[in-house]
Amino acid sequence: VRLAESKIEIIEPKQCRDGDNFARAVERGLSAENKSLPCKYIYDERGSCLFSEIMNLPEYYPTRCEKEILTRYRSCLSDYLGDEPFHLVDLGAGDGRKTKLLLRQFTNDGRKFSFVPIDISQSSLECMANDLEPEFCDLKLKGLVADYFKGLEYLSHNNRERNFVLFLGSNIGNFNREESREFLTGLRNSLNDGDLLLIGFDLKKKTSVMVEAYNDSAGISAQFNLNLLNRINGELGGEFDLDTFKYYSNYEARQGAIVSCLLSTRKQTVFIDALDREFDFGKWEPIHTESSYKFGIEQVHRLARDCGFEIEDDFFDSRRWFVDSLWRAR
Ligand SMILES: C[S@@+](CC[C@H](N)C(=O)[O-])C[C@H]1O[C@@H](n2cnc3c(N)ncnc32)[C@H](O)[C@@H]1O
Repeated sequence: VRLAESKIEIIEPKQCRDGDNFARAVERGLSAENKSLPCKYIYDERGSCLFSEIMNLPEYYPTRCEKEILTRYRSCLSDYLGDEPFHLVDLGAGDGRKTKLLLRQFTNDGRKFSFVPIDISQSSLECMANDLEPEFCDLKLKGLVADYFKGLEYLSHNNRERNFVLFLGSNIGNFNREESREFLTGLRNSLNDGDLLLIGFDLKKKTSVMVEAYNDSAGISAQFNLNLLNRINGELGGEFDLDTFKYYSNYEARQGAIVSCLLSTRKQTVFIDALDREFDFGKWEPIHTESSYKFGIEQVHRLARDCGFEIEDDFFDSRRWFVDSLWRAR
């Protein structure tokens, strides 16, 4: 952590931990007619560890698909970058295990770059920085603890060099269709003309495959979602009894998304100290926790064009379950 501290800049100090934003989001979400909690708050230290476990699960295919893609095409990606210096920006970097494949390739090819992982989870960035240190001791690394939007704002003021932006792991799928357009247009506007974006999309496929990925037999996805209630208890003095909430996740074909929620298994009232108020839950009432939108390749291409990018290439895994699409800012 000593090492990581010197390499990590906190743009929004304790953004999720010190209550304000988190408390407001919880109050808004639990007061709504259709209750919800933003999924980005799942990722405290425990949530980030649970996600790393999810990536190892036999049912969770997206990580393996994307690893296959990056292993196969990393040299081709390196060729796109040439000899000019660039920032390698990793949005929602997580534990960076797939990014490592690219770091290795770019380093071996003698590319001149600095690495800028951006993540809301400070613990993820610290673990990643410590993990990279032994192998990449000369790497110029500047991790930013920030929400995507704050990170982009920061980048738009510090973008004198070319950028190669990674948005992997189908993170884009957590936005609904309208939000993803808004986000990608914002991203485009913080980039320079000619900058590259490699963005991962989970493609539509047999529903049972998608549903199983979010309903693993070890129950890690359930713990991951329940971590939201854990955080409310730990950080906001919530009195949730986790045994009275059940994780439920299914594919909604009309939306084209896996929709996950926590169901209150009984009628109950829960007090949250930091908000100084109670919230009522009906029997089997859901709290929406996460959506994971799936895409057709035509939707991917339309999104690129509508948001100010042109498509350079599409890299698929062998089953065509996932695509890393390479876009250039027009
Ligand atoms: C699904 S994981 C993917 C991690 C990595 N990109 C990968 O492909 O393995 C999502 C990551 O994005 C981060 N994240 C989620 N919402 C975020 C937000 N609004 N701003 C910044 N980071 C966010 C989480 O902390 C987590 O590390």
